[in-house]
Amino acid sequence: MTEQRPVTNDTATKVEKAKPALPDAQTVTFVKHWTDRLFSFRVTRPPSLRFRSGEFVMIGLMGDPDPATGKQKPLLRAYSIASPAWDDELEFYSIKVQDGPLTSKLQHIRPGDEIILRPKPVGTLVHDALLPGKRLWFFATGTGIAPFASLLRDPQTYEDYDEVILTHTCREVGELAYGAELIENIRSDELLAELIGEGFHEKLRYYPTTTREESPKMGRITDLMRSGDVFHDLGVPELTPETNRAMVCGNLAFNLEIKDMLEGYGLVEGANSNPQHYVVEKAFLD
Ligand code: A2P
Repeated sequence: MTEQRPVTNDTATKVEKAKPALPDAQTVTFVKHWTDRLFSFRVTRPPSLRFRSGEFVMIGLMGDPDPATGKQKPLLRAYSIASPAWDDELEFYSIKVQDGPLTSKLQHIRPGDEIILRPKPVGTLVHDALLPGKRLWFFATGTGIAPFASLLRDPQTYEDYDEVILTHTCREVGELAYGAELIENIRSDELLAELIGEGFHEKLRYYPTTTREESPKMGRITDLMRSGDVFHDLGVPELTPETNRAMVCGNLAFNLEIKDMLEGYGLVEGANSNPQHYVVEKAFLD
């Protein structure tokens, strides 16, 4: 269940009418730089775009003109939508790679600029791909937190589960800031409390860790699971297929390693067409 608020898109419509700019153009409404490697931004939402929290879309900018023909082609990448399905704007969370074909340019966007957004959402990190369970784990590294930023603001997440645990492993403390602020905002969000019910956030547990800079909890989440630290710290038992469900989003090596571990606990990978115990998706890296 998600409440669909009316989508207001006057600015975008005016901009599109004013100048025939990019195909599938949306207007940037907000940009925040979290570190020299990370930023988030919000754009207008196409009125017709419906998506399930956790899905991704292709977004981007026009590439440089071809030296021979002068023609420009769209430069698009898959980005998880970080905002929930009921939000009237779309939020994205991105890495900045100085020589990355897209993010070297995308990192310079400002409010009022346009980006390309293909309104065809897809993805496996959706509630439909999991069987009912009691405890839902979100395992993220780096920008892999983005789809969970959407799901953590979706009432269904709290309606379907007794407990929701977000683990987020980053190299440095500064890289945890987006997630830390997200959790703080969810806990104090009056609209969510109204939609889901007072005290819903007591179901939400947050377990941030760093690997290359001192912080209250250090180590890769995979190592902390093997050692039993995570379960001890949170006071929950190891994962079992009977009650636990998991969604994974991070770098490739992490995804493969944790997938192995989840299979070791007896969890089976699910998909939209075959709901099971866990699902995995690769975080975008330019
Ligand atoms: P580490 O610093 O030990 O490599 P990145 O920024 O490279 O995408 O990494 C994000 C986080 O994911 C880092 O804290 C990194 O730890 C961690 N990480 C990388 N590979 C793995 C893996 N195979 N298992 C668990 N965590 C990993």
